[in-house]
Amino acid sequence: METNEHARPGAREIQVVATPEELAYVAAETVVLRAADAIRDHGRFIVALSGGSTPDSLFHLLATSAFASRIDWQHVHVCWGDERCISPRDARSNYRMACDAFLERVPIPTAHVHRMRGEDAPQAAAAAYEAELRELFNVHAPHDDDFPAFDLILLGLGADGHTASLFPDGTALREQRRWVVADYAKSVSMWRITLTLPLINASHHVLFLVAGADKAEVVQQIFIAPTHTVLLPAARVAPTRGVVRWILDSAAAATTPGSRITSA
Ligand code: 6PG
Repeated sequence: METNEHARPGAREIQVVATPEELAYVAAETVVLRAADAIRDHGRFIVALSGGSTPDSLFHLLATSAFASRIDWQHVHVCWGDERCISPRDARSNYRMACDAFLERVPIPTAHVHRMRGEDAPQAAAAAYEAELRELFNVHAPHDDDFPAFDLILLGLGADGHTASLFPDGTALREQRRWVVADYAKSVSMWRITLTLPLINASHHVLFLVAGADKAEVVQQIFIAPTHTVLLPAARVAPTRGVVRWILDSAAAATTPGSRITSA
């Protein structure tokens, strides 16, 4: 199922590919295209990376000459959708995963890598990250509708329907004013820092990358049979001025027949 790169704002697009390797390749092509569009349109590309294990193969692809040579890194700013409240040297750090996979191998200016300081006190780290984003987007006066638009936000999907570090039972999901908050994620017994739903929903493009049979049930809940009166966090990602695109591998889409997955 192909998708239209220039879909209408508010659209939800779904693409099912055969394998995790193909998912990484399609995602890498999307990053290249979105970066070129953004830099051509307004001189820079601001992307927020997802965490977890799924994007690792995408990140390694971005370091290969086939893809790295097609991205104008001097005009790229890398942020994160969320981070674990641990040291950046910890193997579980989303920042460390991205550095090991590609950031240390491409010519992106150091000042353009906007790391969430997982090693600091969570609330202070979240407030500091919001201040850094306000500087990056040049939006300082806190007004209700001041959420800036990332050019691309990459997101993963947890088996419980969480995305970034917006968990079904978390307080972060309810935040409507701040851009970045800290939350204690009970299911993983860890403090997290995360972009909030209104900031994610202000993005020009959101790209979900979902692979593996362990995600099949939650994918079905999101696309076919919402069993919760309260929508799962990932199901609440619906950019008001942008497009949300899901790339699923066949294992994650296994119980959601292609004919039943429809774009909204
Ligand atoms: C994190 C993520 C989280 C992740 C999902 C999927 O820091 O863990 O941001 O939202 O994307 O839990 O994780 P996997 O890709 O490892 O399945």
